[in-house]
Amino acid sequence: MSSLIPPPSPKAAPAEPGGRGVTEHKKDTQLVEAGRRAEWTQGLVNPAVWRASTILFDSVADLHAANPPRDGVLHYGRNGTPTMWALCEALTELEPGAAATRLYPSGAAAVAGALLAVLQAGDELLMVDSAYGPTRALCEGLLKRFGVTTVYYDPMIGAGIAELIGEKTRAVFLESPGTHTFEVQDVPTICAAAKARGLVTLIDNTWATPLFFPAIAAGVDLSILACTKYIGGHADLMLGSVTATAALAPRLESARRVMGQAGSADEAWLALRGLRTLGLRLERHQENGLRVARWLKDQPQVARVLHPALPDCPGHEYWQRDFKGASGLFSVVMKGGDEAARDRLVDSLELFGIGYSWGGYESLAIPPDYQRTATRPEFEGPLIRFHVGLEDPDDLIADLAAALAGYCAAG
Ligand SMILES: Cc1ncc(COP(=O)(O)O)c(C=O)c1O
Repeated sequence: MSSLIPPPSPKAAPAEPGGRGVTEHKKDTQLVEAGRRAEWTQGLVNPAVWRASTILFDSVADLHAANPPRDGVLHYGRNGTPTMWALCEALTELEPGAAATRLYPSGAAAVAGALLAVLQAGDELLMVDSAYGPTRALCEGLLKRFGVTTVYYDPMIGAGIAELIGEKTRAVFLESPGTHTFEVQDVPTICAAAKARGLVTLIDNTWATPLFFPAIAAGVDLSILACTKYIGGHADLMLGSVTATAALAPRLESARRVMGQAGSADEAWLALRGLRTLGLRLERHQENGLRVARWLKDQPQVARVLHPALPDCPGHEYWQRDFKGASGLFSVVMKGGDEAARDRLVDSLELFGIGYSWGGYESLAIPPDYQRTATRPEFEGPLIRFHVGLEDPDDLIADLAAALAGYCAAG
């Protein structure tokens, strides 16, 4: 079996003879070509689903030759098969400045895998206050238990991050825009300040993906994606990835390996399939999302729309400066009204599903539940988080108009 695949070199040298050197191409071409090495596709357009635990070697010498485990050489299922390598190579191609990508069974696992790769007992972590809930739970639970202290910082801190860096500070975690409240961070400034003090920077880049925000080029060391969302794009897979610079890639891989973290071949195959249409889908999510967000902004029941591409969103100027686009996820601040009225509004929507995981082709609405430590944003009323999907925006707006007509602000 192992002899079926001639061993290509690791990702660091993508333009192998027989490979499909795609580094110089534009994004849409990369999305089509990336990861489709001839030795992985074997004459098909897409690599097959290579499921494996056991790899059989022709001899003990061949078994030894497969060590240490490396991309492109079959070793053991947990260390990848062509399906996983193809996705990793494609995700690395999409991040200028990146050296390698590792897969995890979910986005939350990718966050944990990245943090555990860079932290040790006694370290302090600077965590953005608008982080995804389970990321905070990781800090307050497992990381605390293992002797890592977390200090939360204002997402709009910018260069002020330097004042929070102490002797024990090891890493700065960013998420831009923030979960539920959508603050866009000054990523290059924060990363430059962190780098000047020798810290590692990590970002949850799930909202933008590398297409709309090339995080490593902006100075980040480890860029995390919940591939569950836009990479998969069809609300039917669970997968996470971490893309690393050359300096951090070995640490990331050794932590992943000892923790036994791996993405499955089936999920990688689905994610790779989704990736091929990511550019098209994101463009439409952006267009539809902005149409709906602008319409919502003009409704009397709405106080503000927290959409990174609109001026009311904190950090909008950084979105304008650093991002290449906006995806379909944003929040709306209602003008007065209580949570019960907000919940009735969400319940009355017909085209918006009520569900947590976004980034699929379908529209969603959810009452956000967020925690804060360093900051407490003031809102005029309850929040609703929308994910605008690929439906016709006229239909979505009609659905929202009907639901808003029944919204009664308290007092
Ligand atoms: C910003 C962000 N990061 C990470 C995750 C976790 O991804 P997963 O659901 O694949 O664990 C989510 C899920 O909602 C998310 O919204």
